[in-house]
Amino acid sequence: MPRCQGHYSNSFLLYLFASFFICLKALGSSMSNGLNGHYQCAETELNSTEGELFLSEAFKVILEEAVHKATDVKEKVCEWKDPDQLRDVLDLELRDHGETHQQLLQRVRDVAKHSVKTNHPRFFNQLFAGVDYHALTGRLLTETLNTSQYTYEVAPAFVLMEDVVLRKLRSLVGWAEGDGIFCPGGSMSNMYAMNVARYWAFPQAKTQGLWSVPRLAVFTSQESHYSMKKSAAFLGIGTENVYHVKVDESGRMIPEDLEAKIVHAKSQGAVPFFVNATAGSTVQGAFDPLDRIADISESNGMWMHVDAAWGGSVLFSKKHKHLVAGIERANSMTWNPHKMLMAGLQCSVILMRDTTDLLMRCHCANATYLFQQDKFYDISLDTGDKSIQCGRKVDCLKLWLMWKAVGSQGLANRVDMAFANTRYFVEKLKKREGFQLVSEPQFVNVCFWYIPPSLRGKENSADYKDKLAKVAPIIKERMVKQGSMMVGYQPLDGRVNFFRMVILSPQLTQSDLDFCLDEIERLGRDL
Ligand SMILES: *Cc1c(COP(=O)(O)O)cnc(C)c1O
Ligand SMILES: *[C@@H]1O[C@H](CO)[C@@H](O)[C@H](O)[C@H]1NC(C)=O
Ligand SMILES: *[C@@H]1O[C@H](CO)[C@@H](O)[C@H](O)[C@H]1NC(C)=O
Ligand SMILES: *[C@@H]1O[C@H](CO)[C@@H](O)[C@H](O)[C@H]1NC(C)=O
Ligand SMILES: *[C@@H]1O[C@H](CO)[C@@H](O)[C@H](O)[C@H]1NC(C)=O
Repeated sequence: MPRCQGHYSNSFLLYLFASFFICLKALGSSMSNGLNGHYQCAETELNSTEGELFLSEAFKVILEEAVHKATDVKEKVCEWKDPDQLRDVLDLELRDHGETHQQLLQRVRDVAKHSVKTNHPRFFNQLFAGVDYHALTGRLLTETLNTSQYTYEVAPAFVLMEDVVLRKLRSLVGWAEGDGIFCPGGSMSNMYAMNVARYWAFPQAKTQGLWSVPRLAVFTSQESHYSMKKSAAFLGIGTENVYHVKVDESGRMIPEDLEAKIVHAKSQGAVPFFVNATAGSTVQGAFDPLDRIADISESNGMWMHVDAAWGGSVLFSKKHKHLVAGIERANSMTWNPHKMLMAGLQCSVILMRDTTDLLMRCHCANATYLFQQDKFYDISLDTGDKSIQCGRKVDCLKLWLMWKAVGSQGLANRVDMAFANTRYFVEKLKKREGFQLVSEPQFVNVCFWYIPPSLRGKENSADYKDKLAKVAPIIKERMVKQGSMMVGYQPLDGRVNFFRMVILSPQLTQSDLDFCLDEIERLGRDL
Protein backbone atom coordinates (compact mmCIF):
# COMPACT_ATOMS: atom_id res chain seq x y z
CA MET A 1 0.00 0.00 0.00
CA PRO A 2 1.24 3.51 -0.79
CA ARG A 3 2.10 4.92 2.57
CA CYS A 4 0.66 8.32 2.17
CA GLN A 5 -2.46 7.50 0.24
CA GLY A 6 -5.48 9.26 1.58
CA HIS A 7 -3.56 11.82 3.61
CA TYR A 8 -4.86 15.28 2.98
CA SER A 9 -3.08 18.17 4.54
CA ASN A 10 -6.19 20.23 4.59
CA SER A 11 -7.68 20.08 8.02
CA PHE A 12 -10.46 22.50 7.16
CA LEU A 13 -11.87 20.22 4.52
CA LEU A 14 -11.36 17.21 6.69
CA TYR A 15 -13.48 18.97 9.21
CA LEU A 16 -16.08 19.81 6.60
CA PHE A 17 -16.09 16.24 5.45
CA ALA A 18 -16.48 14.98 8.95
CA SER A 19 -19.38 17.25 9.65
CA PHE A 20 -21.12 16.37 6.41
CA PHE A 21 -20.85 12.67 6.15
CA ILE A 22 -20.60 11.89 9.78
CA CYS A 23 -18.79 11.02 11.62
CA LEU A 24 -16.13 10.24 14.10
CA LYS A 25 -18.86 9.65 16.60
CA ALA A 26 -20.10 6.77 14.55
CA LEU A 27 -16.78 5.13 13.83
CA GLY A 28 -16.52 1.69 15.25
CA SER A 29 -20.23 1.56 15.65
CA SER A 30 -23.31 1.45 13.58
CA MET A 31 -27.00 1.53 13.83
CA SER A 32 -29.43 -1.07 12.75
CA ASN A 33 -32.98 -0.40 11.94
CA GLY A 34 -34.83 -2.60 14.43
CA LEU A 35 -38.18 -4.20 13.83
CA ASN A 36 -40.01 -1.44 15.64
CA GLY A 37 -38.35 1.17 13.48
CA HIS A 38 -36.05 2.41 16.23
CA TYR A 39 -32.42 2.85 15.39
CA GLN A 40 -30.17 0.94 17.66
CA CYS A 41 -26.55 1.05 18.09
CA ALA A 42 -24.10 -1.77 17.56
CA GLU A 43 -20.36 -1.90 17.13
CA THR A 44 -20.60 -3.16 13.58
CA GLU A 45 -20.34 -1.43 10.22
CA LEU A 46 -23.40 0.09 8.57
CA ASN A 47 -24.61 -1.85 5.56
CA SER A 48 -25.15 0.19 2.43
CA THR A 49 -28.92 0.55 2.86
CA GLU A 50 -28.48 1.91 6.36
CA GLY A 51 -25.59 4.07 5.24
CA GLU A 52 -27.55 5.68 2.45
CA LEU A 53 -30.54 6.24 4.70
CA PHE A 54 -28.38 8.06 7.20
CA LEU A 55 -26.71 10.06 4.49
CA SER A 56 -29.98 11.21 2.97
CA GLU A 57 -31.41 12.23 6.33
CA ALA A 58 -28.20 14.01 7.27
CA PHE A 59 -28.27 15.74 3.92
CA LYS A 60 -31.70 17.18 4.65
CA VAL A 61 -30.35 18.56 7.90
CA ILE A 62 -27.32 20.01 6.10
CA LEU A 63 -29.52 21.69 3.50
CA GLU A 64 -31.74 23.17 6.16
CA GLU A 65 -29.12 24.22 8.72
CA ALA A 66 -25.99 24.89 6.72
CA VAL A 67 -27.52 26.20 3.51
CA HIS A 68 -31.08 27.48 3.93
CA LYS A 69 -30.91 29.00 7.41
CA ALA A 70 -27.26 29.93 7.03
CA THR A 71 -28.05 32.28 4.17
CA ASP A 72 -31.23 33.71 5.70
CA VAL A 73 -30.69 37.31 6.66
CA LYS A 74 -33.16 36.92 9.52
CA GLU A 75 -30.97 34.27 11.13
CA LYS A 76 -27.77 34.94 13.08
CA VAL A 77 -24.35 34.96 11.46
CA CYS A 78 -22.83 33.24 14.45
CA GLU A 79 -23.88 31.74 17.73
CA TRP A 80 -21.20 32.84 20.16
CA LYS A 81 -20.25 30.55 23.04
CA ASP A 82 -17.20 30.58 25.30
CA PRO A 83 -14.93 27.63 24.53
CA ASP A 84 -15.89 25.84 27.75
CA GLN A 85 -19.59 26.24 27.08
CA LEU A 86 -19.13 25.16 23.48
CA ARG A 87 -17.21 22.06 24.51
CA ASP A 88 -20.18 21.10 26.70
CA VAL A 89 -22.86 21.91 24.16
CA LEU A 90 -21.15 19.89 21.45
CA ASP A 91 -20.24 17.04 23.80
CA LEU A 92 -16.98 16.55 21.95
CA GLU A 93 -15.71 13.59 23.95
CA LEU A 94 -15.13 10.41 21.92
CA ARG A 95 -16.22 7.22 23.64
CA ASP A 96 -15.93 3.44 23.32
CA HIS A 97 -19.46 2.97 22.07
CA GLY A 98 -21.23 4.52 19.13
CA GLU A 99 -24.41 6.56 19.14
CA THR A 100 -27.79 6.14 17.52
CA HIS A 101 -28.90 7.48 14.17
CA GLN A 102 -31.07 10.13 15.85
CA GLN A 103 -28.30 11.25 18.18
CA LEU A 104 -25.94 11.55 15.26
CA LEU A 105 -28.40 13.62 13.25
CA GLN A 106 -28.63 15.90 16.25
CA ARG A 107 -24.82 16.13 16.21
CA VAL A 108 -24.95 17.28 12.59
CA ARG A 109 -27.48 19.91 13.54
CA ASP A 110 -25.44 21.07 16.55
CA VAL A 111 -22.22 21.40 14.58
CA ALA A 112 -24.01 23.46 11.93
CA LYS A 113 -25.73 25.61 14.52
CA HIS A 114 -22.52 26.46 16.35
CA SER A 115 -20.46 27.16 13.27
CA VAL A 116 -20.01 30.59 11.77
CA LYS A 117 -22.23 31.08 8.70
CA THR A 118 -19.62 32.27 6.26
CA ASN A 119 -22.25 32.18 3.50
CA HIS A 120 -24.52 34.61 5.38
CA PRO A 121 -25.10 38.02 3.72
CA ARG A 122 -23.77 39.74 6.83
CA PHE A 123 -20.47 37.93 7.00
CA PHE A 124 -17.78 40.41 5.93
CA ASN A 125 -15.01 39.05 8.11
CA GLN A 126 -12.79 37.25 5.63
CA LEU A 127 -11.75 37.41 2.02
CA PHE A 128 -14.41 34.85 1.20
CA ALA A 129 -18.18 34.97 1.71
CA GLY A 130 -21.45 33.99 0.14
CA VAL A 131 -22.36 30.74 -1.53
CA ASP A 132 -22.31 29.56 -5.10
CA TYR A 133 -24.64 26.59 -5.37
CA HIS A 134 -22.87 25.01 -8.31
CA ALA A 135 -19.50 25.25 -6.61
CA LEU A 136 -21.07 23.76 -3.50
CA THR A 137 -22.37 20.88 -5.58
CA GLY A 138 -18.87 20.40 -6.93
CA ARG A 139 -17.50 20.34 -3.39
CA LEU A 140 -20.00 17.72 -2.30
CA LEU A 141 -19.27 15.56 -5.32
CA THR A 142 -15.54 15.90 -4.70
CA GLU A 143 -15.94 14.72 -1.12
CA THR A 144 -18.15 11.88 -2.15
CA LEU A 145 -15.88 10.59 -4.89
CA ASN A 146 -13.02 10.75 -2.45
CA THR A 147 -10.06 10.41 -4.76
CA SER A 148 -6.60 11.83 -4.95
CA GLN A 149 -5.41 14.06 -7.76
CA TYR A 150 -2.01 12.42 -8.36
CA THR A 151 -2.52 9.99 -11.25
CA TYR A 152 -4.73 9.53 -14.29
CA GLU A 153 -5.27 6.02 -12.99
CA VAL A 154 -7.26 7.12 -9.92
CA ALA A 155 -8.48 10.54 -11.06
CA PRO A 156 -8.94 10.41 -14.84
CA ALA A 157 -11.68 13.05 -15.05
CA PHE A 158 -9.92 15.36 -12.63
CA VAL A 159 -6.49 15.14 -14.22
CA LEU A 160 -7.97 16.29 -17.53
CA MET A 161 -10.18 18.85 -15.81
CA GLU A 162 -7.32 20.37 -13.81
CA ASP A 163 -5.37 20.80 -17.01
CA VAL A 164 -8.25 22.59 -18.75
CA VAL A 165 -8.96 24.89 -15.80
CA LEU A 166 -5.30 25.83 -15.36
CA ARG A 167 -4.96 26.46 -19.09
CA LYS A 168 -8.01 28.73 -19.06
CA LEU A 169 -6.80 30.65 -16.03
CA ARG A 170 -3.39 31.10 -17.68
CA SER A 171 -5.01 32.39 -20.84
CA LEU A 172 -6.61 35.17 -18.79
CA VAL A 173 -3.13 36.17 -17.63
CA GLY A 174 -1.99 36.18 -21.24
CA TRP A 175 0.11 33.02 -21.13
CA ALA A 176 -0.67 30.75 -24.08
CA GLU A 177 1.69 28.17 -22.62
CA GLY A 178 2.96 27.51 -19.15
CA ASP A 179 2.46 25.36 -16.13
CA GLY A 180 0.67 25.29 -12.81
CA ILE A 181 -1.00 23.25 -10.13
CA PHE A 182 -3.79 23.51 -7.58
CA CYS A 183 -2.38 23.92 -4.08
CA PRO A 184 -3.90 23.71 -0.62
CA GLY A 185 -4.27 27.47 -0.22
CA GLY A 186 -2.54 30.66 -1.26
CA SER A 187 0.14 30.44 1.40
CA MET A 188 1.19 27.11 -0.07
CA SER A 189 1.03 28.47 -3.63
CA ASN A 190 3.35 31.28 -2.56
CA MET A 191 5.71 28.79 -0.99
CA TYR A 192 5.78 26.80 -4.23
CA ALA A 193 6.73 29.94 -6.11
CA MET A 194 9.65 30.63 -3.81
CA ASN A 195 10.86 27.05 -3.98
CA VAL A 196 10.63 26.85 -7.76
CA ALA A 197 12.39 30.21 -8.06
CA ARG A 198 15.25 28.97 -5.91
CA TYR A 199 15.49 25.79 -8.00
CA TRP A 200 15.55 27.94 -11.13
CA ALA A 201 18.39 30.06 -9.77
CA PHE A 202 20.27 27.28 -7.95
CA PRO A 203 19.13 23.80 -9.03
CA GLN A 204 21.71 22.17 -6.77
CA ALA A 205 19.63 23.34 -3.80
CA LYS A 206 17.38 20.36 -4.47
CA THR A 207 20.06 17.71 -4.24
CA GLN A 208 22.82 19.25 -2.15
CA GLY A 209 20.76 21.38 0.16
CA LEU A 210 21.39 24.79 1.62
CA TRP A 211 25.17 24.30 1.89
CA SER A 212 25.42 24.57 -1.86
CA VAL A 213 23.59 27.89 -2.14
CA PRO A 214 24.72 31.41 -1.27
CA ARG A 215 22.77 33.59 1.11
CA LEU A 216 19.55 34.45 -0.76
CA ALA A 217 17.48 37.59 -0.53
CA VAL A 218 13.75 37.87 -0.99
CA PHE A 219 11.88 41.14 -1.52
CA THR A 220 8.32 41.82 -0.63
CA SER A 221 6.28 44.82 0.36
CA GLN A 222 5.73 45.87 3.93
CA GLU A 223 2.08 45.11 3.41
CA SER A 224 2.63 41.64 2.10
CA HIS A 225 0.88 38.70 3.65
CA TYR A 226 2.72 36.98 6.48
CA SER A 227 2.97 33.79 4.42
CA MET A 228 6.11 35.32 2.90
CA LYS A 229 7.86 35.05 6.24
CA LYS A 230 6.55 31.56 6.74
CA SER A 231 7.88 30.50 3.35
CA ALA A 232 11.32 31.97 3.99
CA ALA A 233 11.48 30.21 7.35
CA PHE A 234 10.16 26.90 6.02
CA LEU A 235 12.47 26.83 3.01
CA GLY A 236 15.57 27.63 5.05
CA ILE A 237 16.05 31.03 3.44
CA GLY A 238 15.59 32.73 6.78
CA THR A 239 13.17 35.46 7.78
CA GLU A 240 16.04 37.94 8.17
CA ASN A 241 16.70 37.59 4.45
CA VAL A 242 13.27 38.90 3.63
CA TYR A 243 13.68 42.57 2.74
CA HIS A 244 10.61 44.68 3.25
CA VAL A 245 10.05 47.24 0.56
CA LYS A 246 8.27 50.46 1.52
CA VAL A 247 4.74 51.16 0.44
CA ASP A 248 2.84 54.36 -0.22
CA GLU A 249 -0.22 55.60 1.68
CA SER A 250 -2.56 53.13 0.05
CA GLY A 251 -0.22 50.18 0.41
CA ARG A 252 1.46 49.98 -3.03
CA MET A 253 5.10 48.92 -3.25
CA ILE A 254 7.41 51.86 -4.06
CA PRO A 255 9.64 50.70 -6.97
CA GLU A 256 12.48 53.09 -6.10
CA ASP A 257 12.67 51.54 -2.67
CA LEU A 258 12.78 48.06 -4.23
CA GLU A 259 15.84 49.13 -6.20
CA ALA A 260 17.45 50.56 -3.08
CA LYS A 261 16.76 47.39 -1.08
CA ILE A 262 18.30 45.24 -3.83
CA VAL A 263 21.48 47.31 -3.70
CA HIS A 264 21.48 47.06 0.07
CA ALA A 265 21.03 43.26 0.03
CA LYS A 266 23.91 42.87 -2.41
CA SER A 267 26.13 45.03 -0.20
CA GLN A 268 25.39 42.60 2.62
CA GLY A 269 26.58 39.69 0.49
CA ALA A 270 23.15 38.28 -0.32
CA VAL A 271 21.97 37.22 -3.79
CA PRO A 272 18.63 38.79 -4.72
CA PHE A 273 16.61 36.06 -6.44
CA PHE A 274 12.94 36.59 -5.73
CA VAL A 275 10.62 39.55 -5.73
CA ASN A 276 7.13 39.18 -4.54
CA ALA A 277 4.63 41.71 -5.78
CA THR A 278 1.09 41.90 -4.55
CA ALA A 279 -2.09 42.24 -6.54
CA GLY A 280 -4.73 42.95 -3.94
CA SER A 281 -3.15 43.19 -0.51
CA THR A 282 -4.94 41.50 2.32
CA VAL A 283 -5.84 44.54 4.38
CA GLN A 284 -6.05 47.52 2.04
CA GLY A 285 -6.54 45.70 -1.27
CA ALA A 286 -3.56 47.48 -2.83
CA PHE A 287 -2.17 46.61 -6.26
CA ASP A 288 1.57 46.99 -6.72
CA PRO A 289 2.81 48.66 -9.94
CA LEU A 290 3.61 45.39 -11.73
CA ASP A 291 5.15 46.81 -14.89
CA ARG A 292 7.73 48.81 -12.95
CA ILE A 293 8.51 45.84 -10.72
CA ALA A 294 8.92 43.64 -13.82
CA ASP A 295 11.50 46.09 -15.22
CA ILE A 296 13.49 45.90 -12.00
CA SER A 297 13.22 42.10 -11.74
CA GLU A 298 14.36 41.64 -15.32
CA SER A 299 17.34 43.91 -15.01
CA ASN A 300 18.46 42.13 -11.84
CA GLY A 301 17.82 38.62 -13.18
CA MET A 302 15.28 37.90 -10.49
CA TRP A 303 12.19 35.72 -10.46
CA MET A 304 9.07 37.84 -10.23
CA HIS A 305 6.13 36.35 -8.41
CA VAL A 306 2.77 38.07 -8.08
CA ASP A 307 0.68 37.18 -5.11
CA ALA A 308 -2.74 37.71 -6.64
CA ALA A 309 -4.45 35.37 -4.19
CA TRP A 310 -6.97 38.08 -3.51
CA GLY A 311 -6.83 40.36 -6.54
CA GLY A 312 -6.28 37.85 -9.39
CA SER A 313 -9.97 37.61 -10.14
CA VAL A 314 -9.99 41.11 -11.65
CA LEU A 315 -8.52 39.37 -14.72
CA PHE A 316 -12.06 38.35 -15.61
CA SER A 317 -13.25 41.93 -15.80
CA LYS A 318 -12.61 44.06 -18.88
CA LYS A 319 -13.32 47.08 -16.76
CA HIS A 320 -10.95 46.36 -13.89
CA LYS A 321 -8.14 44.22 -15.21
CA HIS A 322 -5.99 47.31 -15.76
CA LEU A 323 -5.23 46.98 -12.04
CA VAL A 324 -2.93 44.06 -12.85
CA ALA A 325 -1.40 45.47 -16.04
CA GLY A 326 2.02 43.89 -16.46
CA ILE A 327 1.13 40.64 -14.73
CA GLU A 328 1.95 38.75 -17.93
CA ARG A 329 5.60 39.70 -17.39
CA ALA A 330 5.75 37.84 -14.07
CA ASN A 331 7.25 34.35 -13.80
CA SER A 332 4.53 33.04 -11.52
CA MET A 333 1.36 34.05 -9.78
CA THR A 334 -0.84 32.84 -6.96
CA TRP A 335 -4.58 33.08 -7.41
CA ASN A 336 -7.33 31.96 -5.04
CA PRO A 337 -10.64 31.42 -6.84
CA HIS A 338 -12.05 30.55 -3.41
CA LYS A 339 -11.93 34.21 -2.52
CA MET A 340 -13.55 36.61 -4.93
CA LEU A 341 -15.03 34.05 -7.33
CA MET A 342 -16.64 32.12 -4.46
CA ALA A 343 -15.51 28.66 -5.54
CA GLY A 344 -15.43 27.54 -1.92
CA LEU A 345 -12.57 26.58 0.34
CA GLN A 346 -10.27 25.69 -0.84
CA CYS A 347 -9.36 26.56 -4.35
CA SER A 348 -5.96 28.07 -5.00
CA VAL A 349 -3.55 27.83 -7.90
CA ILE A 350 0.03 28.64 -8.69
CA LEU A 351 0.38 29.54 -12.37
CA MET A 352 3.73 29.76 -14.10
CA ARG A 353 4.97 31.19 -17.37
CA ASP A 354 7.73 28.56 -17.53
CA THR A 355 7.65 26.01 -20.35
CA THR A 356 10.65 23.95 -19.27
CA ASP A 357 8.92 21.72 -16.74
CA LEU A 358 10.52 23.50 -13.79
CA LEU A 359 7.67 22.63 -11.46
CA MET A 360 8.09 18.90 -12.11
CA ARG A 361 11.87 19.01 -12.06
CA CYS A 362 11.90 20.97 -8.83
CA HIS A 363 9.55 18.69 -6.92
CA CYS A 364 9.71 15.23 -8.48
CA ALA A 365 10.87 12.25 -6.49
CA ASN A 366 9.79 9.56 -8.98
CA ALA A 367 8.00 7.25 -6.53
CA THR A 368 7.98 3.99 -8.42
CA TYR A 369 4.93 2.59 -6.66
CA LEU A 370 2.81 5.48 -7.92
CA PHE A 371 4.40 6.90 -11.04
CA GLN A 372 5.41 3.71 -12.82
CA GLN A 373 7.14 4.47 -16.10
CA ASP A 374 5.68 1.42 -17.87
CA LYS A 375 1.98 2.24 -17.52
CA PHE A 376 -0.45 1.43 -20.31
CA TYR A 377 -1.38 5.11 -20.85
CA ASP A 378 0.44 8.40 -21.46
CA ILE A 379 2.34 8.89 -18.20
CA SER A 380 2.59 12.63 -18.70
CA LEU A 381 -0.97 12.61 -17.37
CA ASP A 382 0.37 11.61 -13.97
CA THR A 383 0.97 15.14 -12.76
CA GLY A 384 1.14 14.30 -9.06
CA ASP A 385 4.92 14.54 -8.85
CA LYS A 386 4.74 18.29 -9.52
CA SER A 387 3.34 18.57 -6.03
CA ILE A 388 5.15 18.43 -2.71
CA GLN A 389 2.22 16.41 -1.43
CA CYS A 390 1.52 12.77 -2.10
CA GLY A 391 -2.25 12.51 -1.86
CA ARG A 392 -3.73 15.75 -3.15
CA LYS A 393 -7.29 16.84 -2.80
CA VAL A 394 -9.32 17.50 -5.93
CA ASP A 395 -9.83 21.27 -6.00
CA CYS A 396 -10.68 21.86 -9.65
CA LEU A 397 -14.20 20.42 -9.84
CA LYS A 398 -15.95 23.12 -7.80
CA LEU A 399 -14.42 25.86 -9.94
CA TRP A 400 -15.06 24.01 -13.19
CA LEU A 401 -18.73 23.33 -12.41
CA MET A 402 -19.32 26.93 -11.35
CA TRP A 403 -17.55 28.23 -14.45
CA LYS A 404 -19.64 25.90 -16.63
CA ALA A 405 -22.76 27.24 -14.92
CA VAL A 406 -22.19 30.97 -15.34
CA GLY A 407 -19.50 31.18 -18.00
CA SER A 408 -16.58 33.58 -18.02
CA GLN A 409 -19.07 36.39 -18.50
CA GLY A 410 -20.90 35.44 -15.32
CA LEU A 411 -17.66 35.48 -13.38
CA ALA A 412 -16.80 38.85 -14.90
CA ASN A 413 -20.19 40.16 -13.79
CA ARG A 414 -19.51 38.89 -10.30
CA VAL A 415 -16.29 40.88 -10.14
CA ASP A 416 -17.92 44.01 -11.58
CA MET A 417 -20.80 43.72 -9.17
CA ALA A 418 -18.42 43.55 -6.21
CA PHE A 419 -16.75 46.77 -7.38
CA ALA A 420 -20.13 48.44 -7.86
CA ASN A 421 -21.33 47.41 -4.39
CA THR A 422 -18.08 48.70 -2.95
CA ARG A 423 -18.59 52.05 -4.62
CA TYR A 424 -22.12 52.23 -3.20
CA PHE A 425 -20.85 51.45 0.29
CA VAL A 426 -18.04 53.99 0.10
CA GLU A 427 -20.41 56.74 -1.07
CA LYS A 428 -22.80 56.01 1.80
CA LEU A 429 -19.96 55.89 4.27
CA LYS A 430 -18.55 59.23 3.17
CA LYS A 431 -21.90 60.89 3.71
CA ARG A 432 -22.28 59.63 7.26
CA GLU A 433 -21.09 61.47 10.28
CA GLY A 434 -18.67 59.47 12.39
CA PHE A 435 -17.28 57.30 9.60
CA GLN A 436 -13.84 57.97 8.18
CA LEU A 437 -11.96 56.15 5.42
CA VAL A 438 -8.40 55.03 6.14
CA SER A 439 -7.57 55.36 2.46
CA GLU A 440 -9.49 55.56 -0.80
CA PRO A 441 -10.16 51.90 -1.80
CA GLN A 442 -8.52 50.53 -4.94
CA PHE A 443 -10.37 47.25 -4.65
CA VAL A 444 -13.27 45.83 -2.66
CA ASN A 445 -11.64 46.19 0.75
CA VAL A 446 -12.97 49.23 2.56
CA CYS A 447 -10.89 50.29 5.55
CA PHE A 448 -12.52 52.78 7.88
CA TRP A 449 -12.84 54.01 11.43
CA TYR A 450 -16.07 54.50 13.28
CA ILE A 451 -15.72 57.51 15.53
CA PRO A 452 -18.29 57.57 18.33
CA PRO A 453 -19.90 60.94 19.18
CA SER A 454 -17.77 61.23 22.35
CA LEU A 455 -14.58 61.35 20.26
CA ARG A 456 -15.71 63.57 17.39
CA GLY A 457 -13.82 66.81 17.10
CA LYS A 458 -11.22 65.60 19.63
CA GLU A 459 -8.60 64.58 17.04
CA ASN A 460 -6.00 66.77 18.68
CA SER A 461 -6.38 65.53 22.22
CA ALA A 462 -3.46 63.48 23.56
CA ASP A 463 -5.31 60.24 24.16
CA TYR A 464 -7.44 60.34 20.99
CA LYS A 465 -5.60 57.48 19.29
CA ASP A 466 -5.61 55.27 22.37
CA LYS A 467 -9.33 55.76 22.73
CA LEU A 468 -10.07 55.26 19.06
CA ALA A 469 -8.00 52.05 19.11
CA LYS A 470 -10.45 50.55 21.61
CA VAL A 471 -13.59 51.26 19.59
CA ALA A 472 -13.38 48.58 16.90
CA PRO A 473 -12.60 45.68 19.26
CA ILE A 474 -15.57 46.52 21.48
CA ILE A 475 -17.96 46.86 18.56
CA LYS A 476 -16.63 43.57 17.19
CA GLU A 477 -17.23 41.82 20.50
CA ARG A 478 -20.76 43.13 20.62
CA MET A 479 -21.63 42.12 17.07
CA VAL A 480 -20.25 38.60 17.54
CA LYS A 481 -22.08 38.10 20.82
CA GLN A 482 -25.32 39.29 19.26
CA GLY A 483 -24.66 37.40 16.05
CA SER A 484 -25.81 40.33 13.93
CA MET A 485 -22.81 40.61 11.58
CA MET A 486 -19.10 39.92 11.34
CA VAL A 487 -16.44 42.27 10.04
CA GLY A 488 -12.70 42.27 10.75
CA TYR A 489 -10.49 44.96 12.24
CA GLN A 490 -6.75 45.51 12.60
CA PRO A 491 -4.11 48.18 13.19
CA LEU A 492 -1.65 48.95 10.37
CA ASP A 493 1.61 50.91 10.26
CA GLY A 494 0.88 53.32 13.06
CA ARG A 495 -2.81 53.56 12.21
CA VAL A 496 -4.86 52.35 15.15
CA ASN A 497 -7.54 49.64 14.89
CA PHE A 498 -9.88 50.17 11.97
CA PHE A 499 -12.53 48.03 10.34
CA ARG A 500 -11.87 46.22 7.08
CA MET A 501 -15.10 45.61 5.24
CA VAL A 502 -14.84 43.10 2.39
CA ILE A 503 -17.58 43.34 -0.21
CA LEU A 504 -17.62 40.48 -2.66
CA SER A 505 -20.75 38.35 -2.71
CA PRO A 506 -23.12 39.12 -5.59
CA GLN A 507 -25.92 38.08 -3.26
CA LEU A 508 -25.37 41.25 -1.24
CA THR A 509 -28.07 43.86 -1.51
CA GLN A 510 -27.80 47.55 -0.82
CA SER A 511 -29.85 47.00 2.29
CA ASP A 512 -27.20 44.61 3.64
CA LEU A 513 -24.62 47.33 3.11
CA ASP A 514 -26.79 49.98 4.74
CA PHE A 515 -27.37 47.59 7.60
CA CYS A 516 -23.64 47.31 8.16
CA LEU A 517 -23.25 51.04 8.73
CA ASP A 518 -26.40 51.23 10.86
CA GLU A 519 -25.31 48.31 12.97
CA ILE A 520 -21.80 49.61 13.66
CA GLU A 521 -23.35 52.90 14.68
CA ARG A 522 -25.94 51.19 16.88
CA LEU A 523 -23.29 49.07 18.60
CA GLY A 524 -20.77 51.87 19.08
CA ARG A 525 -22.78 55.04 19.66
CA ASP A 526 -22.34 54.93 23.45
CA LEU A 527 -18.57 54.43 23.44
C1 LIG B 1 -5.50 35.12 1.40
C2 LIG B 1 -4.19 35.52 0.96
C3 LIG B 1 -3.10 34.64 1.01
C4 LIG B 1 -3.21 33.31 1.68
O1 LIG B 1 -4.08 32.42 1.06
P1 LIG B 1 -4.65 31.17 1.87
O2 LIG B 1 -5.43 30.42 0.87
O3 LIG B 1 -5.47 31.72 2.98
O4 LIG B 1 -3.45 30.41 2.38
C5 LIG B 1 -1.91 35.05 0.50
N1 LIG B 1 -1.78 36.27 -0.05
C6 LIG B 1 -2.79 37.14 -0.10
C7 LIG B 1 -2.58 38.47 -0.73
C8 LIG B 1 -4.03 36.80 0.40
O5 LIG B 1 -5.03 37.68 0.37
C1 LIG C 1 -12.40 7.53 1.08
O1 LIG C 1 -11.15 6.96 0.90
C2 LIG C 1 -10.59 6.38 2.05
C3 LIG C 1 -9.23 5.84 1.75
O2 LIG C 1 -8.44 6.80 1.18
C4 LIG C 1 -11.49 5.28 2.54
O3 LIG C 1 -10.99 4.77 3.74
C5 LIG C 1 -12.88 5.81 2.75
O4 LIG C 1 -13.77 4.76 3.08
C6 LIG C 1 -13.41 6.50 1.53
N1 LIG C 1 -14.68 7.15 1.86
C7 LIG C 1 -15.68 7.25 1.04
C8 LIG C 1 -16.88 7.99 1.53
O5 LIG C 1 -15.66 6.81 -0.08
C1 LIG D 1 -29.12 -3.76 6.14
O1 LIG D 1 -29.55 -3.80 7.48
C2 LIG D 1 -30.97 -3.80 7.63
C3 LIG D 1 -31.31 -3.64 9.09
O2 LIG D 1 -30.37 -4.20 9.91
C4 LIG D 1 -31.55 -5.04 7.01
O3 LIG D 1 -32.96 -5.03 7.16
C5 LIG D 1 -31.17 -5.05 5.55
O4 LIG D 1 -31.61 -6.25 4.97
C6 LIG D 1 -29.68 -4.91 5.36
N1 LIG D 1 -29.45 -4.67 3.95
C7 LIG D 1 -28.47 -5.25 3.27
C8 LIG D 1 -28.35 -4.83 1.83
O5 LIG D 1 -27.71 -6.02 3.78
C1 LIG E 1 4.13 37.93 -1.30
O1 LIG E 1 3.28 39.00 -1.03
C2 LIG E 1 2.00 38.59 -0.82
C3 LIG E 1 1.03 39.71 -0.81
O2 LIG E 1 1.26 40.63 0.15
C4 LIG E 1 1.90 37.66 0.35
O3 LIG E 1 0.60 37.24 0.54
C5 LIG E 1 2.81 36.50 0.14
O4 LIG E 1 2.78 35.67 1.24
C6 LIG E 1 4.17 36.96 -0.15
N1 LIG E 1 5.11 35.86 -0.24
C7 LIG E 1 5.37 35.04 -1.24
C8 LIG E 1 6.36 33.97 -1.02
O5 LIG E 1 4.86 35.13 -2.32
C1 LIG F 1 13.26 11.38 -11.85
O1 LIG F 1 13.29 10.88 -13.15
C2 LIG F 1 13.76 11.83 -14.10
C3 LIG F 1 13.54 11.24 -15.48
O2 LIG F 1 13.94 9.92 -15.52
C4 LIG F 1 15.19 12.17 -13.79
O3 LIG F 1 15.69 13.10 -14.72
C5 LIG F 1 15.25 12.74 -12.39
O4 LIG F 1 16.59 12.99 -12.02
C6 LIG F 1 14.63 11.82 -11.37
N1 LIG F 1 14.53 12.53 -10.15
C7 LIG F 1 14.68 11.98 -8.94
C8 LIG F 1 14.55 12.87 -7.77
O5 LIG F 1 14.91 10.81 -8.80
